[in-house]
Amino acid sequence: MDPPSILKPSALFGACGLVVVITGGGTGIGRAMAAALFHAGASRVYLLGRRVGVLETAAAAIEPTSGGRGEVAGKTEGQAGGDGRSGGEAKVIVPLECDVRSKASVHAAAEEVRRRDGRVDVLVNNAGVSGPDDRALHTTGLDDPGVGVAAVQDVLLQNLDGDGWANTFAINSTAVMLVSAAFLPLLEAGNAARGWSPGRVGRGGGLAGQRQQQDPTNPPPTRKRTPVAGVDADDDRLAQIVTVASIAAFNRYVTAGFAYSASKAAAVHLGKSMAHMLAPWGIRSNVICPGCKCYALPAA
Ligand SMILES: NC(=O)c1ccc[n+]([C@@H]2O[C@H](COP(=O)([O-])OP(=O)(O)OC[C@H]3O[C@@H](n4cnc5c(N)ncnc54)[C@H](OP(=O)(O)O)[C@@H]3O)[C@@H](O)[C@H]2O)c1
Repeated sequence: MDPPSILKPSALFGACGLVVVITGGGTGIGRAMAAALFHAGASRVYLLGRRVGVLETAAAAIEPTSGGRGEVAGKTEGQAGGDGRSGGEAKVIVPLECDVRSKASVHAAAEEVRRRDGRVDVLVNNAGVSGPDDRALHTTGLDDPGVGVAAVQDVLLQNLDGDGWANTFAINSTAVMLVSAAFLPLLEAGNAARGWSPGRVGRGGGLAGQRQQQDPTNPPPTRKRTPVAGVDADDDRLAQIVTVASIAAFNRYVTAGFAYSASKAAAVHLGKSMAHMLAPWGIRSNVICPGCKCYALPAA
């Protein structure tokens, strides 16, 4: 990669050659990310979700048979123009049925990705659900003068029966750990494909590692990289996990529900813990927290 091409915004924000897995990739934010990554040059984007029809519709919209890659800016999904890929090539966008609540389903998806590509460069933990809906807190007159604490108690208790809380935590929190763990060997393989040495470098991830990081006289060793045919010498990208949490993780105002906010706070924490724990393994972890205008405070 020569310096002028590095300075091009399309290269700076490019996804050239990346193998990406997106849970909940068939709709909403996941689908938008898949379209952006497709047009930014990703070599493969797996869309994971439970509804195969939804995944296939999304895949066909992003990558129509006769289309090619467009520029990200100013183009719509599937708009032709770009790299001139022909419809006969293997598809970039691959739908993959997966329920992130199920260990067997997640491992089967990871195995399918391993079989096809043998590696993952970016894993996006995006699948999420809201609920149970506790917005009755804001609509049942609990702010009215004279309302007793029993009314608040009723609202707090109303959604604890059933499996609403467990389902939200299983998808929004537990699956972050399950899916990340299932794809770890493939993320390490993504690093190896760029020439990074595998295994742990340094002692981070525990208290000993923390002490080492704080000791300037004992800096951690650096990961070695060897040239790989077909990989740019300055392509030093490392594999990464991106977890889509929510502004609700930090919001004291209950928006989509107590379970949603708490489960997203857990997702933030897991993303942070993984960033620390996986650093010695050369695997990055970041969390993004989208907001939503539908979460705005009601008018006073
Ligand atoms: N939209 C917003 O304003 C907003 C704001 C803050 C945070 N977020 C977060 O952003 C992420 C995407 O949200 P979105 O708005 O794009 O919602 P969405 O369109 O409803 O997408 C959620 C996706 O998750 C998938 N999913 C749900 N349960 C699953 C399971 N058990 N296994 C596998 N996939 C599952 C769904 O597919 P299937 O049902 O087919 O499985 C769906 O594709 C979520 O984590 C959400 O909490 C969104």
